[in-house]
Parts: sequence; structure tokens; C-alpha cells
Amino acid sequence: MTPPPSVAAVVVLAAGQGTRMRSSTPKVLHALGGRSMLGHVLAATEPLGAGATVVVVGAGRQMVEEHLATVAPSARPVVQAEQRGSGHAAQVALDAIPDVDGAVLIVNGDAPLLRAETVRALVAEHAAAGNALTVLTAEVEDPTGLGRIVRAEGGVRAIVEERDATDDQRAIREINAGVYVGDAAALRGGLGRIGAANDQGELYLTDVLGLLVGEGARVGGVRAEDADDVLGCNDRRELAARRRTLNDRVLGELMRSGVTVVDPQTTWVDVTVTVEADAVLEPGVQLEGGTTVATGAVVGPDTTLVDTAVGPGASVVRSHCLGADIGPEATVGPFSYLRAGTRLARGAKVGAFVETKNVDVGEGSKVPHLSYVGDATIGRGANIGAATVFVNYDGVAKHRTTVGDQVRIGSDTMLVAPVTVGDGAYTAAGSVITSDVPPGAMGVARAPQRNVAGWVRRRRPGTPAAEAAAAAEERDAAPGTDHDQ
Ligand code: UD1
Ligand code: CA
Repeated sequence: MTPPPSVAAVVVLAAGQGTRMRSSTPKVLHALGGRSMLGHVLAATEPLGAGATVVVVGAGRQMVEEHLATVAPSARPVVQAEQRGSGHAAQVALDAIPDVDGAVLIVNGDAPLLRAETVRALVAEHAAAGNALTVLTAEVEDPTGLGRIVRAEGGVRAIVEERDATDDQRAIREINAGVYVGDAAALRGGLGRIGAANDQGELYLTDVLGLLVGEGARVGGVRAEDADDVLGCNDRRELAARRRTLNDRVLGELMRSGVTVVDPQTTWVDVTVTVEADAVLEPGVQLEGGTTVATGAVVGPDTTLVDTAVGPGASVVRSHCLGADIGPEATVGPFSYLRAGTRLARGAKVGAFVETKNVDVGEGSKVPHLSYVGDATIGRGANIGAATVFVNYDGVAKHRTTVGDQVRIGSDTMLVAPVTVGDGAYTAAGSVITSDVPPGAMGVARAPQRNVAGWVRRRRPGTPAAEAAAAAEERDAAPGTDHDQ
């Protein structure tokens, strides 16, 4: 087997302003499909296993550096203090790695659809052809704004920016993707000799290619198999279009692997998510971050899952879940809000208008309606009655509640933590439970009922209520009636 193609270094150009985004966030930090644009580029180049990864930062450099430290701590930011063009940026990067020789991959930071396979094909062709410089290209429908690939006798001769191009050159539909592999020495030499005699007065990385051709060096171009790979992203409309394309790719892969996606138009899945075969995604679903969905699970309609695990055969309907772990055959929703640390064991149920946080719900236990359950452990086979609140916060600190196996919490119980309800115990509806309930006991903590006879007749005379009460009294007084029939 031939070893996978590799490069000595990866250089990502990410210092540009991104003016057309009209944003206080640097362009390369805008996100789609679960990663920043920069994150996607780094993910596509990471499999090359380069010895060094250098990211040229400038505009919004502090934000970009902070982001890099979290998503790619081994990548090294290099500052381009003044944005004098992509050629200048490449030069600054190569100056920061003076000892690197051999192949260097240079890639624009705003190419979020770039894939590892495409980069690999470019690097492989560069090595096979023995080129000094190889550029990734694509045939596109609309080349507006992009650098055109000028060929002669089949070979790449130059890259011409649109604003510097002749009418004939503008008609060319093969464009520069902004992804290059070059020999470090050839790049250093070429970058030292380019000028800024162009419409923008910038140092263009693209000019290195024509310069090397002029010096008789071997230069090549590789057409991307999928033109989508090379699409840049310069404004919010392009960002939306790239996001849609990326999502189509993710859903396409899921469907090919056996996932049912009922409505691809309204289903959004991050590249970082995994969904197993025979799971079903109903319309209006968003799956984000480290979310996983196991086989046979049904998610949606209208559900957002962030960093949430859904077990085999579970169902989640019209719900919002963050950092939850939903066990096999468990059911969630409609209208549930599961927050961080929620863990549902096999067959557990969290129903309508229930919020949970930092809670373990045991096997087969149910929280069916209108409850808040926070900082708690619930055993197996328990039932939490409607409108129960786990009162976990005393205004200063959070406290835990423990509910045992087979417990029946009556509706509208307040469980004031820290408190424990033992195995098999009950609480009476409407109780405010402030001290432990032993196993098997019935905890009752509510005022006894008192009926004030005749109150409506005396205090609300002439109202429909008083009339209804009078009619009932008359019926009861009449001989021969028997309401117990
Ligand atoms: C560039 C290419 C163009 C190609 C297109 C593909 C040049 C001159 N042109 O055009 O041929 O078709 O990408 O999308 O390179 N940058 C810096 N420092 C700078 C200037 C730019 O780091 O001083 C970075 C930007 O952040 C960006 C990349 O270089 O990631 C390209 O710059 P940009 O201004 O977006 O170039 P385009 O006009 O898109
Ligand atoms: Ca660009």
C-alpha cells in the first residue's frame, strides 16, 4: 500500500476583514453545520497529519485566537498585522516556519465545504506530477468575483483575478478554489518576487503561479470532483447557501446509511452528529453538537437536540433537550424541556410541559405532566403526579431530592430539598413535603379541609352560582329523589 499523501505544513489564510459579512464577528468564525468556517477548513486538512498548522490571523485576531485555542489547540496563530493581500499573508506564514521544506498546503479560511478527500486528491496529484505548485480548481456555473484559471495547451498558465481580467478571461468558467499545494522553497522564492501592480494594490498569492510558470517551473491544476467543495463564503447569503449545501450533504449521507428523513427541507443536522440506521427524523428537527440518535428512535416533529443522546427505540416529540441522555425506549414530550444532566433510564417517560435538570429518572418511572424536576434521583417504577415541583433552590444553594423505587408522588406536591421519599412511599396530593417520608409511608402535609355551609347564598346572592346552589338544595329536599342511584 502507498502511504497516504502528506504535507510538511498547512497554512490557513484567515486574516481578512470579511467586510461583506457586515459583522462584528470575524468572517471565519461564522458557523454552519456545527463548526466555524475555520473549523471546517481545519477538519478537512487535519487528516493530512501535517507537522505544523499555521493560521494567519489579523482582523478580529483575538477572537480568532481564542476560538483556535478551543477547536485546534495544536494550530499556531501567526499575526499578519496589516492585510496586504493573500500573497502577503502566505509570506507571513512561511516566515513563521523557516525550517519547513517540502510540500505546504495553503488554503483560504473561508472555504467551509472543502472535504478531506478533495484535499487528499490535490496533494496526491501534486506529488505524482512532481510540481512546484498545484492549484485546486472547479468548473462553476457562475464564476463572478473569482479568480479565473488561464490554460494553454491544457496546462495551467496563470490565475487572473476578475477585476484584472480581460473580457475573454472573464468568460472562463474554471475558477481558482483558493487551495494550493506548493514546494516551500518555490513558494518562498515566488512570494518574494510578486508585486502589487493590480486593481487592489495587494500582494496576490495567485500571482505566484504565473511567475513560476514564467520561470519554467512545473505547475498544475486539479479539478475538484464536486464543485461545491470549493465554494467560498463572503456574505450572509452565501453563508445561508453554504449551510444548505452542507446540510444536504449530511442528510444525504444519513439517508444512504438507512436513516429516514421525512422532510429534508426542515431538518438540520450538524456534521458532528451521529444517527443510526432505522432512526426516523420527523419534520422540523435540529440535531446539534455531539448529539447521537440510536436505531429505532423517532425524533420530532419540531424538536431541537443539543449534545443529547437518544437511545434505541426512544421517542422525542416537540421538545428541546440540552445535554440530556435519553435511555432506550424512553419517551419525551410533547413540549418537554430537558436540561443538562438529565438521564432517563430505559422506558422512562417525561411528558407534556415538564422541565428537568440534573436528574436521574429510573427505569420505567414517569413524570407525565406539568412538573419541574431538578437536582434529583428518582428510582424505578415511580410516578410523579401532575404539577409536582422539586423545590431545589433556597435562594442561596441547590439541594438534592431522592425519590425511591415504586413511589407515588401525589399531584401538586412540593418536594422541598434536601428531602428523601423512601421506596414504595406515597405523598398526598397538594402536600408540601419538607421532611423525609419513610419507605411505605403516606406523607401528608396540607391543611385539613373546612366547608363553610351556605356561604354562597349569604355572600353572593343573586349570582348564577347562588341560583345553581339553591336548585341543588331544592332537589335534595324533594321527596322521592335518590342521587345515589
Ligand atoms: C481569493 C483568490 C481568488 C479565488 C478566491 C476563492 C486571491 C488574490 N484571490 O479571492 O483567485 O478564486 O479566493 O474563494 O487570493 N487573507 C489574509 N490576509 C490578507 C488578505 C486575505 O489572510 O491580507 C485571507 C482571507 O481571510 C481569505 C483568503 O485570504 O481567507 C482569501 O482572501 P479574500 O479576500 O477572501 O480573496 P478573494 O477575493 O475571495
Ligand atoms: Ca474569499
